Amino acid sequence: MSNLYDRLLKKEAKLAVIGLGYVGLPIALAFARKIKVVGFDINQKRVDMMRRREDPSNELDASEFDGCDIHFTADLNDLKSVEFFIVAVPTPIDSQNIPDLGPLLGATRTVGQVLKKNDYVVYESTVYPGCTERIACRCWSA
Ligand SMILES: NC(=O)c1ccc[n+]([C@@H]2O[C@H](COP(=O)([O-])OP(=O)(O)OC[C@H]3O[C@@H](n4cnc5c(N)ncnc54)[C@H](O)[C@@H]3O)[C@@H](O)[C@H]2O)c1
Repeated sequence: MSNLYDRLLKKEAKLAVIGLGYVGLPIALAFARKIKVVGFDINQKRVDMMRRREDPSNELDASEFDGCDIHFTADLNDLKSVEFFIVAVPTPIDSQNIPDLGPLLGATRTVGQVLKKNDYVVYESTVYPGCTERIACRCWSA
């Protein structure tokens, strides 16, 4: 069996971006010019906008969606066939610079429900050193 990189290029495997905001949507569209992408967001209204080639963050023109192989969805089932996940949900900080890890925990639980052996997960969200390991252990070891 060929490796995941080759299968992604041949569109035999899929990549998902979880959280399609200011950071996630451009990443998802860039990948979708070359490989098969699932764009997942919990906000159905934002998903509907992106299906109409509208960027909810008002950063990208409709033309940026041209030639992209991407399925926008809020349905967990669409992630079951994905083998490479990129998490790009927000990590806002409060006045004490303490990050709200709620969205990250939510996205990690989502990925954990569909994760299979040998899949890859990349956190694009800004986190402090050690956070990724702690979050993933908390969500996936149960
Ligand atoms: N790595 C980098 O180079 C880099 C650069 C800039 C920002 N960031 C980080 O990227 C992260 C994302 O920031 P942003 O500005 O794109 O945020 P944003 O607020 O623009 O968008 C976040 C999106 O995530 C969705 N979302 C929230 N919780 C979710 C969940 N549980 N599951 C799925 N989708 C969910 C929201 O509906 C929204 O569409 C932040 O942590 C930011 O600090 C990283």
